[in-house]
Amino acid sequence: GFSMIVLGVESSCDETGLALHDSERGLLAHALHSQVAMHEEYGGVVPELASRDHIRRAIPLLNQVLTQAGISRGDIDAIAYTQGPGLAGALLVGASIACGLGLALDRPVLGVHHLEGHLLSPLLSRTPPEFPFVALLISGGHTQLMRVDGVGSYALLGETLDDAAGEAFDKSAKLLGLGYPGGPAISRLAEFGDPGAFKLPRPMLHSKDLNFSFSGLKTAVLTLVKNQTTNICEQDKANIARAFVDAIVDVLVAKCLTALKETGLKRLVIAGGVGANRQLREALNEAARKRRFDVYYPELEFCTDNGAMIAFAGAMRLQRDPQAATKDYGFNV
Ligand code: KG4
Ligand code: ZN
Repeated sequence: GFSMIVLGVESSCDETGLALHDSERGLLAHALHSQVAMHEEYGGVVPELASRDHIRRAIPLLNQVLTQAGISRGDIDAIAYTQGPGLAGALLVGASIACGLGLALDRPVLGVHHLEGHLLSPLLSRTPPEFPFVALLISGGHTQLMRVDGVGSYALLGETLDDAAGEAFDKSAKLLGLGYPGGPAISRLAEFGDPGAFKLPRPMLHSKDLNFSFSGLKTAVLTLVKNQTTNICEQDKANIARAFVDAIVDVLVAKCLTALKETGLKRLVIAGGVGANRQLREALNEAARKRRFDVYYPELEFCTDNGAMIAFAGAMRLQRDPQAATKDYGFNV
């Protein structure tokens, strides 16, 4: 049959991701370089450093995926890059590389919305969900509940009014003196915490809508940290981490249940970096068993930013509309 190979380029933040997706054979290859070690000493992403590192890494990673897939540059039929949202300089690197390659290879290029990449990433797994489904998108920059009826058919059900879920993880982790990115660190520490030691608020748990608010939770963590009169010990930190994770997981699960109830759907899809969280997955799996719905996650490696989800989202867009990619090479970031 008709086969099309799409190259995906992700460079919106601190990961350089390249991948090749074949409409017939699926994902052919993917490669990622994380800048976490480079930004760690600054306690967060330094945009200028991020841009420069994307420049250094992108072409070697491209060669890597071509070798992995056993194809040559000329076999690429179209190029998809992350158009936004993200750091302007970092996005510009990916867009420039994608358009430069398109021009050199005489292939069309299309910009993909970063969140659409995350949203469709669970479809890359071995047991992909069918449409329609409710999606919870939880990343470092966004927290949204959506009704998804198909590729390109997305209705926003609710979102955060302030901090994103990943941001809440990162900021609370920072308050506990854990490194960047804080999500995985605070999650690991919480495993050693006593669930009864501290209680944190569940913001908006009983609001009638599907919106979230996490900045108050972060402030409550700050208050707990400050209230430890003597030098805060490791066990206190673990207890606070546990209280934080319990609170945020409670809210995320409750809103998912409400969204399923309101839409009448029986499929829940989790996407974005926080979707890698162990405690959240356990709580959702438990709720799914009790309430008889199905829950789907991306493979762990495709929860956080990656090129595979961009190649895939690009391929899906092109399948629906072959004109979606152009040879204009005038790009927006
Ligand atoms: O989707 P992503 O890679 O980037 C954005 O588009 O923002 O998400 C990154 C976020 C960070 O806030 C990070 O701390 C969080 O995902 N994260 C986690 C875990 N792994 C990554 N949060 C909680 N538990 C995890 N295991
Ligand atoms: Zn992301």
